[in-house]
Amino acid sequence: ILLNRCHYALAIQHYSSSIRPPIPPFSPSSINKSSNVTQTFDTMLDFRRQQARRTVLIHLGRSHSESELYKLCSRIGQITNMTLYTANKKECALLEFSNEQSVNNLLKITSHFTNENRLPCASRNLYFSSQQTGTRLKYHPIGREVQQPDDSIIDKSLNDIRNVSDQIRFFWQKTKLTELDTRLRFFVSSLVEEAFGSIFVDTVCLPFGSSVNTFGKSRCDLDMLLTFEDFREKNIKRDGKIPQLRFLTKRSYLNDRFQAQAYLKILADTLKHFMAECTNVQIILPARVPIVRFQHRLSDLQCDVSMSEFKSSYYMSKLLWNLSSIDNRVAPLVFVIRRWAREASITQSTPGPWFSNFQMTLLVLFYLQSIEILPKLNYINEQPTTISPQDILAANVLGDLSDDTILMNELENIRYVQSNKANNNSLAILLKGFFTFYENFDFQSSLITLLNRKNMSKSSLIQTGKDKDWPIYLENPLVPSMNASKNLVESEGERFRETCKKASEILSHSSKNLLSLFEECHQILPDDLIARAYPAPISIMPDLETDINHDELTTINDIQQDQVFHNTHQQH
Ligand code: CTP
Ligand code: MG
Repeated sequence: ILLNRCHYALAIQHYSSSIRPPIPPFSPSSINKSSNVTQTFDTMLDFRRQQARRTVLIHLGRSHSESELYKLCSRIGQITNMTLYTANKKECALLEFSNEQSVNNLLKITSHFTNENRLPCASRNLYFSSQQTGTRLKYHPIGREVQQPDDSIIDKSLNDIRNVSDQIRFFWQKTKLTELDTRLRFFVSSLVEEAFGSIFVDTVCLPFGSSVNTFGKSRCDLDMLLTFEDFREKNIKRDGKIPQLRFLTKRSYLNDRFQAQAYLKILADTLKHFMAECTNVQIILPARVPIVRFQHRLSDLQCDVSMSEFKSSYYMSKLLWNLSSIDNRVAPLVFVIRRWAREASITQSTPGPWFSNFQMTLLVLFYLQSIEILPKLNYINEQPTTISPQDILAANVLGDLSDDTILMNELENIRYVQSNKANNNSLAILLKGFFTFYENFDFQSSLITLLNRKNMSKSSLIQTGKDKDWPIYLENPLVPSMNASKNLVESEGERFRETCKKASEILSHSSKNLLSLFEECHQILPDDLIARAYPAPISIMPDLETDINHDELTTINDIQQDQVFHNTHQQH
């Protein structure tokens, strides 16, 4: 009883910390550097991944049974957090133990459904059927996550805030990922890691993109990358292994892309046929980056898993996280500009010849560098590069480039670079500044780059003669001389500039605020562009809910035939 009381006390402590604090009143003195200097991107990743492994996700069959569940689980081990939420009309509890052993102990005593024809699979997606018929238990030491409100409710509240800077910070607070959002993202990644790790050794599955780079909006998709070694560890542990004795294994494909496709096919099959709560599994192999897409029902997350370009995804997330942690105005500004861009149809939820959220983020970072709030990346030696963009592409984006140590060091150190303390401009001034900066921007001749280049003209990068004169050149900060905006058409640069001009005019009026900005810049995508949306990628597994389609078996055969073709072609 005493022990249980302790657990309750602990949980109460966590409950209070898991409830989001009220939004502090915004004052200019709060514009300063982020104080969080002890945590790094990697320690954050490690902490979240360990936390996910100590966590189970439970669907409560009956409402108000959380106290009973809590009591039961606290007999197994110490609970450090339990958060309730509703997804797809299901009552769920995300429950974190203080150690992984408690999860294993819980799984050992978890039974299977016996009254239905179900597969004998186990995972950390569980179901709790309450036996309690009476009233609720006395203690409720459990946090309930209040979901982030939708845009219309946020907009109503924005009306009550007078100051544009306060509105921006409020908007960010109300739309960014919550603690539960983050926990669920790492939890789902750990499920994928576990499922795939039961077949292949040393599997690592890491969330990347907006789920981890501080620019994630609540409910945004979960991007994950799958790899077989934690490439962040420089000295992969080989201790205690006997080199004379080895596992007999199958030969892999020579071509990395084919191998990634083969792995993804296995992952898709595993998720589709064996993993509880993973539905609508699709495998999109022909895309530039092949992916497996699925829905995790209990978290209500739309997930994409990819394998190639894993290093660049990790590095890019680290770069954005580090830049964001330099100054606490960066994330709020990015959020509000991304919302404005969505209202103005500058960005779309589907890919096409328009700006993506990621590109919009790079534009904001470039602007913040231009006013010296953020530092430039200094890792390149600005001599004419001997590597052409084609060579870089062929090298599979960083994966095979011989030495990326300088880049890695730069990414480690950039967050310690002091931002320009003299620039204490409010968020409102920075927002207006962004629009004025781009309303006059010369996309035709100027380069947009986060790198410290002396020559900022586009032509300086088009040295080989093979590269096209792209209408907009947004340099990939990790792969010098590679354009990260090849999808954009000239008219979109023009439309962006015009909308910036309009936005800057709106913000010049003292009576106008963030809401006026969203409303008055609202426009729909021009018809000629709608027609140019990229076609939906071809999925190999269109519908999970139907029975096994034997045509699926052709996928691997196709890969093998492609490989034969590739080999023959190579020999020629
Ligand atoms: N990425 C990249 N180069 C690109 C596109 C994407 O390096 N040309 C990486 C970035 O790290 C990006 C991540 O892939 O953050 C995921 O891409 P995407 O889902 O398009 O963008 P997000 O940043 O996740 O934004 P969103 O909220 O729209 O998903
Ligand atoms: Mg994303």
